[in-house]
Order: sequence, then C-alpha cells, then structure tokens
Amino acid sequence: MLASRVRQHVNPLASHFDYPPALPAAWDEVLADAQGLPLVVDVGCAAGGWMVALAKKRVDVNVIGLEIRRPVAKAAAAATDELANAYAAWGNVLPERAPALIDALPREPALITFHFPDPWFKKKHTKRRVVNPGLARALASRLAPGTGIFVQTDVLELFEAMDEVWSSTPGFERSTALPDLFPGSVFASGASTDGSVNATGVATELETRCLARNMPIYRALFVRSAL
Ligand SMILES: C[S@@+](CC[C@H](N)C(=O)[O-])C[C@H]1O[C@@H](n2cnc3c(N)ncnc32)[C@H](O)[C@@H]1O
Repeated sequence: MLASRVRQHVNPLASHFDYPPALPAAWDEVLADAQGLPLVVDVGCAAGGWMVALAKKRVDVNVIGLEIRRPVAKAAAAATDELANAYAAWGNVLPERAPALIDALPREPALITFHFPDPWFKKKHTKRRVVNPGLARALASRLAPGTGIFVQTDVLELFEAMDEVWSSTPGFERSTALPDLFPGSVFASGASTDGSVNATGVATELETRCLARNMPIYRALFVRSAL
C-alpha cells in the first residue's frame, strides 16, 4: 500500500539525495548483538520485507537494510522496530560514500545483497544503477576477503551488466557458496527457471511476484577474493 503511494524510481544522482546514510553511532542501542553476529546488508531494501523475513528466520545473523526513498525507509524502520537483529536506515548507496558506509557498519559485512535493483533501461540513465563499476571498485577497496555479493533480477540486460561489473572488477570472483552463512546452500549462477527461491531461502517481494508468474530470475554470487 505504502509503496504504491511513493514514486517508484528516484534518481540517486540527484543533488538532494547526496547525503550520508543515516546510520546510528551506537549500534548496541539498535542491535542486541551488533558485533557478535554475522552481518547481512540489503541495499535497496524497500519496505523491508526480505530483511524482516530473513531476520526472523535467522536469529543468528544481523540484517541492515538501506533504502533511498525516505518514506519507504521509514516503513522498513517500523517493520524492523521490534526485531533485535534487524535495522533499516534511510541511505543512498553511492560509490563515493561506500567506503564511509562500510566503516560505519557495526562490523564487516558477510554478505551484501542487491535484490531486483531499479533497472534504468535508457542508455543515458544506466549510470543511475546502484550496481556500477565505481561502487564495485569502492567496495573492493574496503571489504574483507570472503565477503559475498549477491545480485538477482528479472531483467536480463541488467543482470548481464551487473555480472560484468563484478566479474571485471579486480578483487571479486564468482562463487556458488557462502558456507559460513548459508551452509549447504548452492548459489547457482545465471537464469533460474525452475521456480526456486534464491539460495538465502527467503524470497523478496519482487522475487515472489516473478515466481508467481513463472518468470526467469537471473542470479549471481561473487565473493571478495583473497588479497
Ligand atoms: C525495484 S526495488 C526492489 C525492492 C526489493 N529489494 C525487492 O527485491 O523486492 C529497488 C529498491 O532500491 C532502492 N534504491 C534505488 N537506488 C538506491 C540507492 N542508490 N541506494 C539505496 N536504495 C536504492 C529503490 O528505492 C527501491 O526501493
């Protein structure tokens, strides 16, 4: 309901979105075990559906969601309010701010997810895509070896672009597993047409819609490679 009243796409490069993510200074006040649990960061968490479901299913991880649209971020914050292992913030994930963003987290992330990011189809708008070469380079400079990057989308053109971004950025390599975080799960690369949920075991809102319509979903996992 809320999302339908909020403009769907916003331009992350607009000057009024050029602000640092609104992250708390005292993580212990918002997460019960801020430093102890492995951290998952969901970029473009919208109203927080996936992060809330993951946090409830996996009380052994912390989930932080970042969402550029302020009213939607507020809805995500309300949805995570009662959870000891989830926190949603208003934030624009931009390459130039990514190092400071990583530094402001309670600990090194174990996984960063980009579920169904805005596709920005027009050629002149592709620079607005949240997954872009600058962001990948910035994250490569800050993430610890082993950190996972998971992307999924129903837009083949966007998938190919995201796949190219991570595979061509030094410091990332394709992977099929995050054994410490999701033991036994296989993160298959490429098109999924068998109706399966992504390997985290929790579907996002857009993923659920795609699965209901038997649409292919394109997925890939990369990890920060050893230095
Ligand atoms: C198409 S929605 C996908 C929502 C959800 N992840 C899902 O799979 O159902 C993409 C979301 O990313 C957010 N977003 C776009 N650019 C962003 C940016 N630079 N930083 C943070 N969030 C962004 C949008 O506002 C939107 O909520």
